[in-house]
Formats: sequence, C-alpha cells, structure tokens
Amino acid sequence: MTTTKPFLILGGTGKTGRRVASRLRERGHDVRAASRKGPTRFDWGDENTWEPVLEGVGAAYLIDSQLGDAATTLRSFSRLAVDSGVERLVLLSNRDWVVPPGEEKLPSERVVRESGAEWTILKPAWFAQNFSEDAFFRQQLVDGDIVMSAGDGVEPFVDADDIADVAVAALTEDGHAGQSYELTGPRQLSLANVTDEIARATGRPLAYHPVSPTDHTAYALQRGLPEEYAALLNTLYSWISDNRFAQLADGVQRALGRDPRDFTDYVRSTAATGVWHG
Ligand SMILES: NC(=O)c1ccc[n+]([C@@H]2O[C@H](COP(=O)([O-])OP(=O)(O)OC[C@H]3O[C@@H](n4cnc5c(N)ncnc54)[C@H](OP(=O)(O)O)[C@@H]3O)[C@@H](O)[C@H]2O)c1
Repeated sequence: MTTTKPFLILGGTGKTGRRVASRLRERGHDVRAASRKGPTRFDWGDENTWEPVLEGVGAAYLIDSQLGDAATTLRSFSRLAVDSGVERLVLLSNRDWVVPPGEEKLPSERVVRESGAEWTILKPAWFAQNFSEDAFFRQQLVDGDIVMSAGDGVEPFVDADDIADVAVAALTEDGHAGQSYELTGPRQLSLANVTDEIARATGRPLAYHPVSPTDHTAYALQRGLPEEYAALLNTLYSWISDNRFAQLADGVQRALGRDPRDFTDYVRSTAATGVWHG
C-alpha cells in the first residue's frame, strides 16, 4: 500500500481520532482529520460531505455514526471509500455489545469485514480519558462526587494513547489485516478505585456514589444530559456492575508487542495538567 496517500481520520476531534491524527502527522504523513467541527468537514448526516473527504485517501480510521441504523450508513460510506480507492479500513468498535437474542451484536464490524478493503477492528474497554476529556464525567471530578449506577463492578480501563498507537500501527504497517484487537488496560478497577487514585494524585477529596439506575437518570437529566444518553449510560454502567467485560485482553500486546499503559500513569500525567481542578 502506498503510504504517501492521505490518511482519513473520522472523529478527528475525538478522544482517539485526535491522537491518531497527531501521531500520523508526527511521522510526516498527510492527514485529513474529519468531523463536523474539525478542520475537514465531515458529517454522517450530510452525504454531500462524504466524497470530498475520501479523495486520494489510501487508508481510513472509522468511528461509526451511532445515529439510527449506523451499520447501514457505514456500509454506504465503506462502499464509497473502496470505490474511491481506499485500501485499508480500521474500525473503532466496542467490546461485544450485549443485545437481545437474535439481534446482531455489532453489525458495523461485519460491514467492515465485508467491505473488500483490508480491515482491522479495535474493540476497546472504557477509555481512561473519559474521566478527563468527557465534559459530563470531568465535571463530576471537578465537583468532587462521582455518581454512577455501576455498583462495585470493575472495568479494565484502557488508555486512549494505547488505542491510538494500535490504530496507527494498523493504518501504516502490514501484519494487522484481518485482526480484531480487544484492547484493555493491564488491571481491573472499580469506580471506588478510580476515585481513590484521582483523589490521591490531585490531593482533593473525592467520593464515589453508587446509585440506582433511576437515581442516576434523575441526576443525569438534572445535569442536562439528553434522556437517551442517560439511558445508554445506565446500560453501560449495568455491564460494569455485572463485571460483564471485566476480563483483561491482550490486544495491545498482540498489536504492539508491549504492555498497555497503567491507569496510575494516566492519572499522574493527567492530574499534572490541572484538568481536575476546574
Ligand atoms: N469512550 C469510551 O469509553 C468508549 C469505549 C469503547 C468504545 N467506544 C466507541 O468509540 C467511539 C467514539 O467514542 P468517543 O468517546 O471517542 O467519542 P468522542 O471522543 O466524543 O469522539 C466522537 C467524534 O465523532 C465526531 N462526530 C460526532 N458526531 C458526528 C457526526 N454526526 N458526523 C461526523 N462526526 C461526528 C466528533 O466530532 P464533531 O463533534 O466535531 O463532529 C468526535 O470527533 C464510539 O463508537 C464509542 O462507542 C468508546
């Protein structure tokens, strides 16, 4: 594959896309970081923005739209991408989503596998960076109270820097085609563990409040979250509470040949930026 062609990074302003774009630029690649508010305008809801971002692109990092029938939308976009000459697709997916019996878990993964391009699928745990780069979670830390319906379940939070490193490897190197990488950090942490680590690193008092889903919905709505998003959070928290995706995975080691970054390292470097002091 010719790597002098531009790389298209969807979600180029997001937690992983931003990191993927900057890593590629540091290596001297031509990068098109695309999103609604990014330097290159791309909107899943406006098909007129699709073709221009694909022009001349050799490989693309995909985050699906999460709008309506996201897999069908992704299928249309992937077709256009392959017809435009894109040879390699890297999809940021999820760990195996829990769906009602008979429903397909993650149809977007099949879309990418059937696209005709070389593909790699990334299946990350919760990002550590949710606590610092997502406004809703960050504000809770600034306020000193983490409120979640996640009980005392554990999650192997993964560092977005590791996800970006894997994405860059898959976009630029051979040997990752046809791989699905489950990406986790090296350890499981409860929300109480997370709270303790951040309190210690910032020197600020912090408390974790495990609440019922109903109370969490009331809390989230009162903080301005849309009802649909509050419901999604309750679903995600229930999976943490059940330890459904608590198991560690070896995707970072398989893709990069090194261990994933520990949550404590993330907390230490993030606390030093002052982001949790408001
Ligand atoms: N966060 C996690 O812990 C986690 C864990 C596992 C998997 N994931 C998956 O990772 C993906 C991204 O999540 P994230 O937390 O990284 O989100 P994020 O940081 O908020 O990034 C989302 C990106 O998508 C862009 N975007 C949003 N709506 C768009 C639209 N209609 N058209 C074009 N671009 C749009 C946003 O930029 P603009 O606003 O500029 O458009 C932003 O760059 C999701 O598929 C999620 O399921 C996340």
